[in-house]
Amino acid sequence: MKITYLGHSAVLVEASSHNILFDPFLTGNPVATAKASEVPADAILLTHGHGDHIGDTVDIAKRTGATVVTVFELAAWLANQGVRTHGLHLGGAHEFEFGRVKLTLAFHGSGIETPDGIIYGGNPAGILFQAEGKTIYHAGDTALFGDMKIIGELNDIDVALLPIGDNFTMGPDDAVLAAKWLRAKKVIPIHYNTFGLIAQDVNAYVHALEGVGITGVPLGIGESLTI
Ligand code: NI
Ligand code: MN
Repeated sequence: MKITYLGHSAVLVEASSHNILFDPFLTGNPVATAKASEVPADAILLTHGHGDHIGDTVDIAKRTGATVVTVFELAAWLANQGVRTHGLHLGGAHEFEFGRVKLTLAFHGSGIETPDGIIYGGNPAGILFQAEGKTIYHAGDTALFGDMKIIGELNDIDVALLPIGDNFTMGPDDAVLAAKWLRAKKVIPIHYNTFGLIAQDVNAYVHALEGVGITGVPLGIGESLTI
């Protein structure tokens, strides 16, 4: 399974001969180099309704025919935009052709920004994705929360994608605790350095992870980790 970092929280996972996109915010993303008009997708997994996560979802889904998997309320809104969707809800899992998706808790907001104001997008989520015997946990945007210990007890997490940017999500100190509680084998830091407000020293974070025996893998834009 190959995990490619597209910048911010956007990740492309190639598994079981499918391309699975997470939170594809590319257009208007100051660090992204992948183009919404070119990126492959058989499925799009969305953690929540904020613009820096929905991103190009509607355009990519329409171009590729990808099914968008996310929380029910956000799925319903996207279906109204003419996109094929599959709604789940927190704690629910479903086995897809491309792998198994389970939504977990995330402590954050999920309002959808529209020209008419912010509308309700349901709960924000984290995503557990399993395929080819591997488990990836994409935390979405979240604060640190104690139930990460339970997620770690119940799942053998090969790679956790954890936000470290602070301000809107966990900062680096909390993200070290998160990695420890999740018992993640490897951590790919996300949601940092996209813009000044969430600038972080990723090497300091990786060093702090080493201190608790966890391998940090800070991917540059377009770089991949194969597990
Ligand atoms: Ni957010
Ligand atoms: Mn965000």
